Amino acid sequence: MAKVDMRGRDLLAIYPLKREEIETILEVALDLKEKQQRGIPHRYLTGKVLAMIFTKPSTRTRVSFEVGMHQLGGYPMFLSAQDLQLGRGETIADTARVLDKMVDGIMIRTYSQAEVEELAAYSRVPVINGLTDLVHPCQALADLLTIYEYKKRLAGLKVAYVGDGNNVAHSLMNAGAKMGMRVYLATPEGYRPNEELAEIARRDAAVSGGEVVITSDPEEAVREADVVYTDVWASMGQEAEREERLKVFAPYQVNGRLVSLAREDYIFLHCLPAHRGEEVTAEVIDGPRSVVFAQAENRLHAQKAVLTLLLAGQEA
Ligand code: CP
Ligand code: NVA
Repeated sequence: MAKVDMRGRDLLAIYPLKREEIETILEVALDLKEKQQRGIPHRYLTGKVLAMIFTKPSTRTRVSFEVGMHQLGGYPMFLSAQDLQLGRGETIADTARVLDKMVDGIMIRTYSQAEVEELAAYSRVPVINGLTDLVHPCQALADLLTIYEYKKRLAGLKVAYVGDGNNVAHSLMNAGAKMGMRVYLATPEGYRPNEELAEIARRDAAVSGGEVVITSDPEEAVREADVVYTDVWASMGQEAEREERLKVFAPYQVNGRLVSLAREDYIFLHCLPAHRGEEVTAEVIDGPRSVVFAQAENRLHAQKAVLTLLLAGQEA
């Protein structure tokens, strides 16, 4: 039973969500996952259309939103930016005001967070952020769902994120802080998380009983951690910095030596796609503590919950 009504809302980032809203999304996700696994119909979005705009590549986000809409009885419409008039200079504001006359929700993956905020400001239908350079909220919801499934709780757990202070790190940090987790981020100097988002996370942690620690020492982060997380060293759009980043981030590789400091029952997470031999060794990502494919599957369930709550407000 959903606790809060989120009908008509946007999902642009994690930090504006209340703790109970995140809890509701996770509860609905668990329920929808069980329904799907037991073959119980849950077509809460019959007749609804989700426009999906992509200006960056995607495997998981595209497939999970597309399959998720299908399973909910709705229709997912894939729109590549290069095929839209957006790619020829039509404004975000005009695109929003055209799409919202015909579709029930818009998912967008792009570079600029400001553009996603603008799309939402002009759209009367919910806008869901499927990744920007700044944040990746859908990923963080799937991450929390995965941690909860394996650890049976969130509050009090130590989560170590090692690597680039990027979009995935930001959303994980804000989500963990909101849920009372002890979030440790180990990044090289110069690649620290966004300070505004970190400040919000610290404030949220003070309320939730969690902790946010930003360090340059991967061992400090991983020691006694329940969850060890990493992401690529060069994100989409940073290809030109790749060689430089490979050098800077080398001491931040998640390998057998580093995870030997974590709790024995730690789980390893990675949003994927992964580069074995760079941010993580094959030994770790393909090892017994890695749950990265369960995590990838949870994108489907978490996003179905988001779609259901925002587009239909159904109590799944
Ligand atoms: N984790 C994630 O968002 O994957 P894609 O880039 O494949 O969508
Ligand atoms: N940080 C990565 C995440 C990909 C899902 C990127 O932005 O490319």
